[in-house]
Amino acid sequence: MCGIVGIALEMGEAAPILVEGLKRLEYRGYDSAGVAIVGERGVSVVKGVGTVDDLERRFGVSALSGGTGIGHTRWATHGGVTDVNAHPHTDCSDRVAVVHNGVIDNFAELRRALEGRGHVLRSDTDTEVIPHLVEEGLSSGLAPIQALARAVSMLEGSYAIAAVVSGRREIVVARRGSPLVLGIGEGGNMCASDVAAMLHFTNRYIPLEDGEVAEITPERVRIWTVGPRGEMTPVEREPREVDWTASMADKGPYDHFMLKEIYEQPSAIERTLSQAEVYSDRAVDLLLSTIDSGGRVVFAAAGTSYHASLVGKYLLARLAGIQAESYVASEFEDWAIPHLREGDLVFAISQSGETADVLIATRAARKLGARVLAMVNVPGSTLAREADEVLYMGAGPEVGVAATKTYTSQVAMLTHLTARLALRLGRGGNRAGEIADWLPEIPKIVEARLEEMDRLSKRYVGEVVSHHSVFFLGRGVNLATSLEGALKLKEISYIHAEGFPGGEYKHGPLALISRDTPAVAILPREERLRRLMVGNIMEVRARGAKVIVVKADGGEAPAEMEFPAAPEGLPEELTPIPFIVPLQLLAYRAAVALGRDPDKPRNLAKSVTVI
Ligand code: G6P
Repeated sequence: MCGIVGIALEMGEAAPILVEGLKRLEYRGYDSAGVAIVGERGVSVVKGVGTVDDLERRFGVSALSGGTGIGHTRWATHGGVTDVNAHPHTDCSDRVAVVHNGVIDNFAELRRALEGRGHVLRSDTDTEVIPHLVEEGLSSGLAPIQALARAVSMLEGSYAIAAVVSGRREIVVARRGSPLVLGIGEGGNMCASDVAAMLHFTNRYIPLEDGEVAEITPERVRIWTVGPRGEMTPVEREPREVDWTASMADKGPYDHFMLKEIYEQPSAIERTLSQAEVYSDRAVDLLLSTIDSGGRVVFAAAGTSYHASLVGKYLLARLAGIQAESYVASEFEDWAIPHLREGDLVFAISQSGETADVLIATRAARKLGARVLAMVNVPGSTLAREADEVLYMGAGPEVGVAATKTYTSQVAMLTHLTARLALRLGRGGNRAGEIADWLPEIPKIVEARLEEMDRLSKRYVGEVVSHHSVFFLGRGVNLATSLEGALKLKEISYIHAEGFPGGEYKHGPLALISRDTPAVAILPREERLRRLMVGNIMEVRARGAKVIVVKADGGEAPAEMEFPAAPEGLPEELTPIPFIVPLQLLAYRAAVALGRDPDKPRNLAKSVTVI
């Protein structure tokens, strides 16, 4: 995964801006960090195992002097987590420093060849071949951008690369398969893995496309495509603007980004619903033309976004009478591609728009003649650029690795979309109209109960953290809520958690239930489902487990603890949004109680750009 940032300034110091950018990129990986600054006496590199804060403490990075620099935050792929393997990597003479995100598949051959020509490589990483290839280009008289273009023409695999050279004010960058955007500022220019890492400097950006290189000087940015032997053809591309601000990506008074992002949900959902007004007509047109021509709707998504797709699938069937399919993106090629046809629509949901499995799925689908409707949060992301139609969620930057506000925004957007589609199709009767009427109330409903849900989650968290396993039971649309609630808890607290359909419980999981396995049950509103869930709760309690229930006011269930998360009368289809909020808070409080960092769960990264 890894995060990359670079800046070239006319005047002033690069280091503090790099450090700020790296902090915003830590969601991409945080096992090591490093920077390289071009100063009066060549390139200074500081790097090591740990977070950006650790780097700052160890080396006082912000005090390094020089107007051009690059930085990196690492999620290890090749080579263990050691100081030597941290980026930037340098060439034999320490004149070239490189940061890289991605995987170089042919690095072993390149390394052997470089060593055969006398180069000395010091780390176990695939990245280190790059500065040595650039070094060779420079030695043969090429300018840094030409040397990088020639180097990347020898690379196989995926990469976003940024390099600096001693005595030069520019950064040279390249991209294939890993994200990289160029930032156009006043008095300098930047590059980064995403726009959020540049907001403290500029909100104007140019996305770099696969197969391109760029030269970023303090005064301007130039882009070229690279041919098979490193030949360069200039490209003109206008900057775009993102309406995110730096303060949106700040922690503010909160202890963690995750808590801030949970509390931001009312305003994020409100923004999503106004975005939906702008974008949904075209998305609805695309869905209608697919259905009219006999095509199918097939969701592809990963992690939390996959759980949102399950809500979408449910709502499409329930409100619009459309039988959609939903696949985890990493399984899409094996389960969906074999029967995908021209005219089908792949509905890809991805917060980052960079998840490798999602991009692989949509690219394979397009080759077969399917169209792609994408729902993304990050502007300028790869998925957004490659899709036929885009729904921007508008949730604002999300920094915590565990998705919270972007999940509820995805579900809000899907609810808006399916209700509108049902109304256009004349299906769903009063139900679709009722849901469309209730939807604008959702931000207020969440807002009104947030503090109370947090208070209750602090009260119930003891029950969760004193056990090793927690089971989440859902039915109907809130099966997705049970899966998402379990994912939140396991990913940030490291307590084993599983979500199940309530009825499936007796087919295996019940064997694990004892007084040591508390359960969280999401109580449906519909009477038939509620009774079934009450039966499941009784079965669990009969084995000594305590139960926490998430419910709407007036919903009755025999449980030790309850979260009244929604008002009586809220249609079942709308409950996934308010019902997930207490489970996000419970997971957050559990992580904090156990001394884990909820923003940086071990082994995970927010944007998974490798397969
Ligand atoms: C990672 C993140 C999850 C996220 C998933 C999909 O696993 O840790 O929070 O849900 O990727 O990410 P996407 O950006 O495609 O929604």
